[in-house]
Amino acid sequence: MAGMRLNAYLARAGVASRRGADELIKAGRVTVNEEPGQLNTFVEAGDRVELDGRTLELQPLAYVLLHKPAGTVTTARDPQGRRTVVDLVDHPARVVPVGRLDADTTGALLLTNDGELAHRLAHPRYEVEKLYEATVEGEPDDAALKRLESGVELDDGRTAPARVRRLAPSTLELAIHEGRKHQVKRMLEAVGHPVTSLHRSRYAGLTLEGLEPGAWRELEPSEVERLRKRQPGRAPAGAGRSTGRSSR
Ligand code: URA
Repeated sequence: MAGMRLNAYLARAGVASRRGADELIKAGRVTVNEEPGQLNTFVEAGDRVELDGRTLELQPLAYVLLHKPAGTVTTARDPQGRRTVVDLVDHPARVVPVGRLDADTTGALLLTNDGELAHRLAHPRYEVEKLYEATVEGEPDDAALKRLESGVELDDGRTAPARVRRLAPSTLELAIHEGRKHQVKRMLEAVGHPVTSLHRSRYAGLTLEGLEPGAWRELEPSEVERLRKRQPGRAPAGAGRSTGRSSR
């Protein structure tokens, strides 16, 4: 095991989120080699970590792709009592979503307990490509598509250029690599075509092939490897390839 901070260790052991782990540590319930753990304690291989006197073991790293259905939230808890995506993924490891989708957005969502990979994938520097299908009010003309392609001025600054394709008169496909809050909805609103439904068809090259809404699967080792090999600002070989089978 590579060394890690105590809160990351507790999260990987499945007992709490990192923030929840900090509370357990502050409450004096965690020991490392029989000494009280501190917020800045670093855990190395061979260290013995206990919570309330019970020895903790790391869970194996897990990577899950979920077809998020509408009406579920990507936060840990919802004040309105809607189901969370974590409730849908019945996996022994404590996996959490990488980034967020709005409650009414459907589609590809990655969940993992690999905090380091999650952090990297969520970082703008890594330019993970997200592909969205947006149904909008009205019929965007070529000028609207051009504006999306050259970047749209939003209240938190100009967006990076998007790749845009018209799938139907009121349905656009947008490829973006930023992950600002409500980004696609705000971009389309800014060009005069509010979104009526939004679906993420691909995330970092992972498609929903074979996954019904609400279903999930573990990533193949080769898929995990490909995500790990990502370099800043460059899509890895094989990402973005069409997975559609040719029909003859
Ligand atoms: N952009 C949005 O507006 N909403 C999402 O859920 C994802 C991207």
